[in-house]
Amino acid sequence: MGAGLAGERVAVAAAVSGFDCLCLSIVPPRRSHSSAAQGGMQASLGNCAMGRGDSPDIHFADTVKGSDWGCDQEVARLFARTAPVAVREMAFWGIPWNRVVAGKGFYYKAGKKYEKIEPAERAGTITARDFGGTAKWRTCYTSDGTGHTLLYTMDSQVVRLGIEVHDRVEALALIHDGESCTGVVARCLKTGKLRVYLARATLIATGGYGKLYRESTNAVINWGDGAAIALDTGLVPIGNPEAVQFHPTGIVPTNILVTEGCRGDGGTLKDVDENRFMNIYEPEKQELASRDVVSRWMTHHIRTGKGVPGAYGAHLWLDIRHLGAEHIKTKLREVEEICKEFLDRDPVTQLIPVRPAQHYSMGGVRTDRDGAAYGLKGLFAAGEAACWDLHGFNRLGGNSLAETIVAGKIVGEKIVEFLRGGETDFKTSVVHRAVEKVRERIDAVTGSSGKENVYLLRAAMGDVLMDQVGIFRNEADLRDAVEKLQAIYERSKKIGLRSSSVHGANPELSACLRLPGMVRLALCIARGALMRTESRGAHAREDYPERNDRDWLKRTLAYWKDDRELLPVLDYELPSRVWEMPPGERGYGSIKIIASEDPGICSPRPETN
Ligand code: FUM
Repeated sequence: MGAGLAGERVAVAAAVSGFDCLCLSIVPPRRSHSSAAQGGMQASLGNCAMGRGDSPDIHFADTVKGSDWGCDQEVARLFARTAPVAVREMAFWGIPWNRVVAGKGFYYKAGKKYEKIEPAERAGTITARDFGGTAKWRTCYTSDGTGHTLLYTMDSQVVRLGIEVHDRVEALALIHDGESCTGVVARCLKTGKLRVYLARATLIATGGYGKLYRESTNAVINWGDGAAIALDTGLVPIGNPEAVQFHPTGIVPTNILVTEGCRGDGGTLKDVDENRFMNIYEPEKQELASRDVVSRWMTHHIRTGKGVPGAYGAHLWLDIRHLGAEHIKTKLREVEEICKEFLDRDPVTQLIPVRPAQHYSMGGVRTDRDGAAYGLKGLFAAGEAACWDLHGFNRLGGNSLAETIVAGKIVGEKIVEFLRGGETDFKTSVVHRAVEKVRERIDAVTGSSGKENVYLLRAAMGDVLMDQVGIFRNEADLRDAVEKLQAIYERSKKIGLRSSSVHGANPELSACLRLPGMVRLALCIARGALMRTESRGAHAREDYPERNDRDWLKRTLAYWKDDRELLPVLDYELPSRVWEMPPGERGYGSIKIIASEDPGICSPRPETN
């Protein structure tokens, strides 16, 4: 499920090993949300002058610090080690990576101009730009259309290998017998007909759940469908649902992303008086602290009255004017186009109105290091849909595109091993039961005389999450959010269709079928956030401002065991007792830390790479 970068990379791995593979997608693959990624993909090539000396060790350390010690360090190690291979593989498949240009040049950091020299022997190698929370320039890019070029290149591999793609098809339920998953029941979005797809291995790669929030940089397809149908089994948990990332620079009012590459290339954030402020809050990293930190300071600065008033609420400014027309028109050309098309502003001469917007779901279908989902054999997940758990409580910019390709490669190879390892028992009774359940859901909606409106309920859910489960959280808001979401969940069972065509392409029916699963996910986020009485990465509790390693160095697992319940069941998973990099200070976004009393987490493992 899902034909974005992660899904297609897994498909490629399966196909080159000789397995039949079929991708389902609700949109044509090249319109998947991966194509919206702009700024780049982290890999420690160390080619450019400002990346010199970089290594998988440094990338690993940045990722662990970025996650606020919330990630699985063995996954982070595997990832950092594989990312350079993945970048080069993509180059071989045709990505036109930006390259090192030899000679003297300039770069901007936090608004100031500096000189740099690229030696001739590095000319033509893959270059990188600066991104938040990184010790080196490591983000490999193709201008600011990196997701676009990666996805088109990957999809060309899919076409070359003859991998079948069924687009405009939405999976509505997993087929399983309580132990193994053997495919999905899906609905064709053109004809409305149900289809059964039987599979020996089933992958969820449907992206994140950003569109649960009112203000998100995500595409209109990011409803968290894959996570919702996994949750629906009652067996597969969502890992760390409360770990939700806000990107500092969504444009106001549409929330379309303008890349972190703007700040990586030297852009600055300014307030109503056109003064910088990140230099005051974060003297070391300034605009290039990690996203959770920058988004918090921006929100704080607006709260102190320093926002720019506007028809859509207060915002701040992103200033890239000093980078110059040539730089903007070559390396930030999508940003230029977005500003012109959606704001009628020219970033070469004008400021860009920005404010933090939901951007990424660190939580997702909980998997082991091979990408195998907890709870059901034969079910896998990769990319943003998964909680692999590379990102912990805050993902570094550029680690998402990298994860899609790296996890896609690794999980794809693990699926091949799984397929070679045994037989699959397809039970017709199980398939019939799964189809019947989906039919009953459709009949309940199409036969309903309920008066609730799906779009209004969806918007109400988005408001609750945005206003009460956002950048800053507290117990009163979270309790209230849970209650409001429970009420929305109850009301979602009384939706009536406004449209008369119940068969075929009916977006209202699709929205109705999705909504209960979306609200269940929203409840996992809000309940997970309420119970986590600490601040870690993007999860910032005003009433618990410390990172509490003593009590909370663990992952949330949210299950939805019973349809009739109004709350998820939360369980907690302790981290592995082996720490390559024991918990410490991140070096930005200063926060008080309550240390763990467990001596096990203070014994660093010797370097293995
Ligand atoms: O700002 C960006 O270009 C986004 C990158 C990312 O989320 O990794």
